[in-house]
Amino acid sequence: MTADLESTARALVAGGKGILAADETPGTLTRRLDALKIVSTPDSRRDYREMFFTTTGIAEFISGVIMQDETIRQKSSTGIALADLLAQQGILPGIKVDNGAKPLAGTPGENITEGLDGLRERLKEYRGTGARFAKWRAVIAVSDTLPSATCVNVNAHALARYAVLCQEQAIVPIVEPEVLMDGSHGIERCEEVTANVLHAVFNALFEQKVYLEGMLLKPNMVISGIKCERQASVEEVAAATVRCLSRHVPAGVPGIVFLSGGQNHLVATAHISAINQLEEPRPWTLSFSYGRALQDEALRAWRGKSENLKAGQRAFYHRAKCDSAAALGKYTESMESEPAAA
Ligand code: 13P
Repeated sequence: MTADLESTARALVAGGKGILAADETPGTLTRRLDALKIVSTPDSRRDYREMFFTTTGIAEFISGVIMQDETIRQKSSTGIALADLLAQQGILPGIKVDNGAKPLAGTPGENITEGLDGLRERLKEYRGTGARFAKWRAVIAVSDTLPSATCVNVNAHALARYAVLCQEQAIVPIVEPEVLMDGSHGIERCEEVTANVLHAVFNALFEQKVYLEGMLLKPNMVISGIKCERQASVEEVAAATVRCLSRHVPAGVPGIVFLSGGQNHLVATAHISAINQLEEPRPWTLSFSYGRALQDEALRAWRGKSENLKAGQRAFYHRAKCDSAAALGKYTESMESEPAAA
């Protein structure tokens, strides 16, 4: 069992590949579709996902896809279960299993991610539908006074409860503690909070006997708050991110896949590239598990119209190719003007 978990975790980050996070809830995806006046229905959401999943050649850059409950139960327009459609291309199907961040009683402005009740049974069912890995996202807000120690500790505890339940069911857990980039704090404050959060998370994972070689970490990058007057450079972000991870992530973890968290797609690619061009030795593979940064250009090209399907797929192929090159430290800005092949 542990050998299988480890080989799946390693496969998810091998060869410069990364993970597509396509696990927006119907509510979140509806907001994104509404913004482009695309009607959101189970079928239009399926068509949107299918555009990504059927992009020719995408398995060269994408190792796994995180789906949401609605998606993993859907069939493609040609009648194939979407999880099988991915598996047929050698892409590992994954599933978001948390039930979202809910207000944390007693600490105004903070959230606790829910979804532990009945999780063992849900994981068994998802494993049966083909899921090989899972995701649980904790969100940590930053201000002069937040996060509270309570918020950090209860979220770390829940992440560890989730992770060990996944491993019991032969599912690789992606452990995602996201320190939000909303706010006017500087990069130094982001580093301080990220360090505290990672410390608490790995302490909880250790206490609850999570097998580190059979998991992936999905953290934020260490970055300036979105409203901060001084935005740290790409090089500063890369250096601070790798320093923080080196201090707090054990070498047993095979891979770290960053979230994009609202960064522009070009900036998100530049950051992965700069992180992988740093010369210090590091024990884990550093790649991406982007949602918005991988999808945004494709969504704008598609706009819900079947005649734009190929344009959407070209945009996705191009972005995935750039991010994969960045994960190998081989990205150059000139790649942005190369024609996409998909
Ligand atoms: P973003 O890359 O859009 O932040 O999404 C990644 C993710 O999975 C958030 O939970």
